[in-house]
Amino acid sequence: MTYTRNTEEEKKQRLFIEALKKTTAERTEASGRRPTYHIMTMGCQMNARDSEKLSGILTEIGAEETESENADILLFNTCTVRENANEKLYGHLGQVKRYKKANPDMLIGICGCMMQEKDEVLRIRQRYPFVDLVFGTHNFWKFPELLYASLTGRERVFDTAETPDQYADHMPVRRKYSFKSGVNIMYGCDNFCTYCIVPYVRGRERSREPEEIIDEIRALVNDGVKEVMLLGQNVNSYGKTLEIPVSFADLLRRVSRIPGLERVRFMTPHPKDLSDDLIRVIREEPKVCHHLHLPLQSGSTRLLKRMNRHYTKESYLDLVRRIREAVPDIGLTTDIIVGFPGETDEDFEDTLDVIRACRFQSAFTFIYSRRTGTPAASYEDQVPEDVTAERMKRLLALVSELAGSVADRGEGETAKVLVEGLNDHMPGWLTGRLGNNLMVHFEGDASLVGEIVDVELTESKGFYYMGRLKG
Ligand code: SAH
Ligand code: SF4
Ligand code: F3S
Repeated sequence: MTYTRNTEEEKKQRLFIEALKKTTAERTEASGRRPTYHIMTMGCQMNARDSEKLSGILTEIGAEETESENADILLFNTCTVRENANEKLYGHLGQVKRYKKANPDMLIGICGCMMQEKDEVLRIRQRYPFVDLVFGTHNFWKFPELLYASLTGRERVFDTAETPDQYADHMPVRRKYSFKSGVNIMYGCDNFCTYCIVPYVRGRERSREPEEIIDEIRALVNDGVKEVMLLGQNVNSYGKTLEIPVSFADLLRRVSRIPGLERVRFMTPHPKDLSDDLIRVIREEPKVCHHLHLPLQSGSTRLLKRMNRHYTKESYLDLVRRIREAVPDIGLTTDIIVGFPGETDEDFEDTLDVIRACRFQSAFTFIYSRRTGTPAASYEDQVPEDVTAERMKRLLALVSELAGSVADRGEGETAKVLVEGLNDHMPGWLTGRLGNNLMVHFEGDASLVGEIVDVELTESKGFYYMGRLKG
């Protein structure tokens, strides 16, 4: 699909940022303090990255971030992948209503994937009159304009788009971490797994030009970033629709050769089209981290077909075998759905089989959630709750039993660790991440946060290591 960067729109949005700076300055003058903002982010890395963009704009106009939801500008960046994500939003809205009562100038806004669903927008419009601003993922780039309209007008601002036909990028960004960053390489998804709402709320797949991605990463590196995570719902289909097609393996190779960058990760590769070329890049390029998040969803070939996943139990196992052969120290993580319509005991046993065979570091396990508008929602053989709950219990027991031993290998070795922060529980200790995604705790000075250091892995704790900083 055509999806063009609209530089005219970018200019227009920048003008709104300028206008907002004035509005904020006046507000600051009148109240004697800068207005505060808080963004509550739900969902995946895509949303986390979008929130950094919202935060960049809010900072640029002169607002100040606060930890509290009782802020002058409160934004909810929503997810709708499972029903509990929606419930989370409504739970929060119930709580923040009282803040608005005490501070009538407060602006409450909602954006993100859930706002691409008409029924949800209608519900907000009718039942949550204290919500001032609503926009979706397709017109996300219009945030400065919509914020301006909301802050200066009397009406509630509801602005969503059916399709994403253009975008304005190159806006200010405020990163959560100084030393690592997500980078969108593509938007949307065309896979239409039958349980999944993402293609409906994020639109058709569109890739960014490789030059644009590389320029963005160069700028991040200049700004102190050591690790990037390339983001897409299925990174393996990156670049197919570009005027000059580029494969994800090629992009990854180019990114990993950017001077000054130390680590590259990516999320998510779909098992149906993970190429040998990509495996080769992971093996050969030293900056590419030895970690793969490879969502299995189910181990049953019959269910995988019903899920529209385009791989089988055998082909998944074969893929894992080939990856491990090429990159023996790879850390694998996965996603599993329990209770997909029609799941029998036998299907579920297949899932357990694959989990036993693959030695995952960790598995994110989800109870199937019926998403209105997806094909699976209308399947008649929905699995009863008690059956799903029982299977979930068994699954969790197996996952923790197996994951408990993944960190056994490596004890006594020294490895590169990116120090991500201070240890929450032990003063004077730091927490960092290995290339394979496992965490390490070790004593060290706060000044090392954001640095890559050598750490001896002294003791395995099953899911993580204790370590000692090498001098
Ligand atoms: N693009 C990624 C997944 C994005 S959604 C991929 O294809 O792997 C993240 C995870 O949410 C999915 O891997 C899946 O396990 C889970 N998920 C998606 N829809 C769901 C649903 N309706 N019910 C339960 N889990 C779901
Ligand atoms: Fe959803 Fe499937 Fe797309 Fe992942 S690949 S976002 S699970 S439709
Ligand atoms: Fe949720 Fe949207 Fe991500 S639905 S999982 S936040 S793409």
